[in-house]
Amino acid sequence: MTGSHSAWPAGFIWGAATAAAQVEGAAHEDGKEDSIWDHFARTPGNVANGDTPERAVDHYHRMPEDVALMKQLGLGSYRFSVSWARVKPGDGEANRDGLAFYDHLVDELLEAGILPWLTLYHWDLPQAVEETGGWANRDTANRFQDYAALVHASLGDRVTHWTTFNEPLCSSYIAYAGGEHAPGRQEPRAGLAAMHHQHLAHGLATSTLRALGAQQLGITLNLTNALPDDPSDPVDVDAARRIDALWNRAFLEPLLLGRYPEDFLRDVAGHDFDSLVHDGDLETIAQPIDFLGVNHYHDDNVSGHPLPAGDPGGLSPTDKPTSSPFVGSEHVTFPSRGLPRTAMGWEVNPTGLRTLLSRLGREYPSLPPLYVTENGSAYDDDVSSDGAVHDVERVAYLEAHLDAVAGAIEDGADVRGYFAWSLLDNFEWAWGYAKRFGIVRVDYETQERTIKDSGLAYARIVREARAARAETASAPNLAP
Ligand code: FCB
Repeated sequence: MTGSHSAWPAGFIWGAATAAAQVEGAAHEDGKEDSIWDHFARTPGNVANGDTPERAVDHYHRMPEDVALMKQLGLGSYRFSVSWARVKPGDGEANRDGLAFYDHLVDELLEAGILPWLTLYHWDLPQAVEETGGWANRDTANRFQDYAALVHASLGDRVTHWTTFNEPLCSSYIAYAGGEHAPGRQEPRAGLAAMHHQHLAHGLATSTLRALGAQQLGITLNLTNALPDDPSDPVDVDAARRIDALWNRAFLEPLLLGRYPEDFLRDVAGHDFDSLVHDGDLETIAQPIDFLGVNHYHDDNVSGHPLPAGDPGGLSPTDKPTSSPFVGSEHVTFPSRGLPRTAMGWEVNPTGLRTLLSRLGREYPSLPPLYVTENGSAYDDDVSSDGAVHDVERVAYLEAHLDAVAGAIEDGADVRGYFAWSLLDNFEWAWGYAKRFGIVRVDYETQERTIKDSGLAYARIVREARAARAETASAPNLAP
């Protein structure tokens, strides 16, 4: 049913996404040096099972085969990220061999009729930059601007769609304050500094890329509906407001409106956030953008009280001690609502995606067009005796969430594309290879790829959506 929705607008982009550190492998080949994830993963206890991104799913060597798979699935776009540590190892000189990989990838995609959708930063800072302070150091924003210009010099003649950051919330709060992600720091103020400096880096790179002629510029945020567990309890209502401020509005408002929300500033006042924001920063940050990427997996049910007895809380990938990533609101909790959950322990709640996409346009009149740049689910897949992967739960998740996107478009949301996370099973950060999100299975021993039932379902939905448009376009005009 999903593909035949009348909602899908002309030109709707059907894609799938990956990220460099999660799929490429070849972590120390052809001049590539450590990213923070290579470094972090080498410390025992940081990543489940001691997994590392060293080999990942060998996309670096199997890229033509993977592009052929995308073509077989009928994808219109491939969202990938560039590894800064590959193209500018140690943030030093440009690495021709590293740039050549992306050059070939882009050519291969274009040859297959697939739009390259490039992300500059999907969490893999060169380790050498971390050693000079990483994102807690303001100068990293300038380094990012130079790196962006280098990538543009190499690919700007063919790549039209540029995303500066993927989910800066994770690469700031969770990486620098929570410590679950690389570089694994547990310093609340560094989390805030990383957030502000990534905003600044986004603004600087956006104006540089615009001046260099990039056509479509944007950023991808992971946004949530933060809902009070008990809407009649002021403590829960305040907790949900705090998460909305820290998780959503501390990103949307500077980027779209050139200001930080007042309540967010109050919530983090104890960390001297104001002194991080220099005169002119907000003007730099609020560059016009052509699209906003939205990643959404689940909503957040928020309370200001301790978890009720018996509520196990969220899952942790390792026993590594971590801190709260909720800077200034460390007391918030996320009680279970009894919804079905994926293997990540994340709620399955497609209505949340519809609500989110619909409300953004109402709340931000200057909102640019939206693309769902990630959505998907991890489940513990089995390979059947016939070699197939009958991932019924992932098929159901995909169909329900595409119905939700179609519903949001019917509600008036300007959504112009959807990217499934992920094209391939891959290195799921601190979870290592333990969680599979692919619509294509990867056998980590042999690197063999097998299209799962969810991949087949997605291909069918895309085919039907295209066919429905073609029928609409060629339908006789019966109007009087
Ligand atoms: C998102 C990340 C992506 C992947 C999915 C499951 O937060 O952007 O790399 O890990 O979650």
